[in-house]
Amino acid sequence: MNAWLIEREGYEPENTADNGNRFLIGNGFIGVRGTLEEYGADKMAALNLAGIYDRAEGQTWREPVNAPNGLFARLENTGNILKHKQSLDIRHGLHSRETVYEHAVLRIERFASMAEPNVLCQRIFVEPKGGPVTLVCGIDADVWDINGPHLMDFKSEGGDILKVSALTYEQKLPITVYEDCNRAHDEIRVNGNSIFRVFNVAERFVLERAITVNAEPVAGSYDSRLAAHKAVWERLWRNSEVKITGDGNAQLSLNYSLYHLHSIAPRHADGLSIAARGLSGQVYKGAVFWDTEIFLMPFFTLTEPSLARKLVQYRINGLPGAVAKAGEYGFDGAFFPWESQDGGIEGCTDFNVTDVFTNRPVRTYFRDKQIHISGDIIYALCRYMDWTGDTGLWDNGGLELARACAEFYLSRAYCRPGSGVLEWTDVVGPDEYHERVDNNAFTNRMAAFTLERAGMAREWRGPKLSGGVVEQFDGYFALEDADLETARGRLRHPKEYWGTQSGVAFSTKIIKQADVLALMNLFPNEYTDEEVKTNWLYYEPRTEHGSSLSACMYALGACRFGRAELAYPLFLKSARADLDGGGKSWAGNVYIGGTHPAASGGAYMIAAHGFAGLRLAGDKPELNPCLPETFDSLEFPFILRGKQMKARVTHGRHGIE
Ligand code: BGC
Repeated sequence: MNAWLIEREGYEPENTADNGNRFLIGNGFIGVRGTLEEYGADKMAALNLAGIYDRAEGQTWREPVNAPNGLFARLENTGNILKHKQSLDIRHGLHSRETVYEHAVLRIERFASMAEPNVLCQRIFVEPKGGPVTLVCGIDADVWDINGPHLMDFKSEGGDILKVSALTYEQKLPITVYEDCNRAHDEIRVNGNSIFRVFNVAERFVLERAITVNAEPVAGSYDSRLAAHKAVWERLWRNSEVKITGDGNAQLSLNYSLYHLHSIAPRHADGLSIAARGLSGQVYKGAVFWDTEIFLMPFFTLTEPSLARKLVQYRINGLPGAVAKAGEYGFDGAFFPWESQDGGIEGCTDFNVTDVFTNRPVRTYFRDKQIHISGDIIYALCRYMDWTGDTGLWDNGGLELARACAEFYLSRAYCRPGSGVLEWTDVVGPDEYHERVDNNAFTNRMAAFTLERAGMAREWRGPKLSGGVVEQFDGYFALEDADLETARGRLRHPKEYWGTQSGVAFSTKIIKQADVLALMNLFPNEYTDEEVKTNWLYYEPRTEHGSSLSACMYALGACRFGRAELAYPLFLKSARADLDGGGKSWAGNVYIGGTHPAASGGAYMIAAHGFAGLRLAGDKPELNPCLPETFDSLEFPFILRGKQMKARVTHGRHGIE
């Protein structure tokens, strides 16, 4: 098995959405959905741009902008498709397709240059089998948008270099796509705002194209660009490759996860973070959630601290937006956006779900009650400092951030008369199905952690236990103990939302995703292995795993009490989330699919912190392995306080060099 190659045989228009995610390429600035070159807006082809947002005319929310598709290419007069294969070299971010038609063979390679973030490269091979065929390729300006259109004032130019430029609707930001190629075309074809070259191909033909987005095009051959691109990937793998022997499937799945994390890391810019759906499109408004801090930061902190620092910096820069949001609700300090867009502005609306029965927007409480977000950010900042030793960040905005978040928690706290103990009431924890609850154990711990780190510690309401089980929030134990099948059986529509007061989970103990288990993983020293086990056995059967963030938290928990066989399927579920596809992709008519970076980051966390059990004891790294049966060994590099280290685990032996 080649652990660096993803392949699918057969032309599958019905899998357009999943393949668009499965075969995604990206370089931190541009994400190219894994759609075929001849696909357009109707099949969700997209060049998704990091950090450029727009609000379309008359729309209520903003989303990231998709650029005109300079990679468009279609072969005409081919006859039927006889054979087709799509593949992705995940070591080097190189996408290929090969289609055998009745009258020609078409092979196309493409990559989003890791060496030049504004550049996409494409090489097209055509081999006619008899008579001539026609290749049409150029810039398709019919852009797929969820909540668009975002581009206006289009201008198209032909010539040696093709150019399509436009402005975003709201802020008039320029989006310009150039296309340069190494052969003279036979004809230019204009269709609306799109512009194409036409080649009449009578014999074996190779065309190399370079697409440049929002930068002046610079000359360079395909081969030299490919070499530079591959060299960057090799450098990235040197610090991040996790080697598993004995289990090819696990190796491939984890490689695939790390491939995605690298492809969406904003190395090219300062002040950007990573959206919950990466660069796979506009789902979730291209917004940054707690996913980045809790699920992605561990990977970057250990393998690429400079990138992790950028992710923290994005939040430091977002402090004014968070202060404004706290003020909006009458609180002091900094209340970070639940869905953060450019400049740290809140993108989440009060009505975030549409009722499938009435088609009416439903009031949700993610924006105003999911207050753990500020603490998650401080947690990630402190974890970053603990592992990297980069305390400079603390003096350059970190401490200010922690204090501002602590002030928010103080002003948001409730204190029963005479008790002196802080509680946080009317909140939403990670389990979003139970809204407006009091004393969510996870939220309280995050708030208290923030107060401690800001030097403002207070007495606070710790978790309540019954028989060793932490009560997720006040009153949880009194809820109906319906099992998952019973709750599912109460649904009256397959796309019905389980949360909100009328949802099937709300009055039961069924939870959306890991909540108490997330708490136990983030504060491992506060819970014994036995306590983790008791809580895992209690909560896991009651968890719907309705979020891709859930599986990894349970896998990490299972490793704590030595049950690799429980962790292993959850590891594969996390690592293969985008490979297997088939997750929730539609909410009514709205596409909510896309890639799942938090699951990819979760897969890394399971390998490094679960299977190998890597932790910091004071300032020393230590391993507490729980290796799956199928693995012979697990080995990975990591950086601790600027020093390159390597962890190696086999059954019976482990060590760090
Ligand atoms: C989850 C959140 C998560 C968001 C973005 C939601 O379904 O419940 O925890 O932050 O998706 O991934």
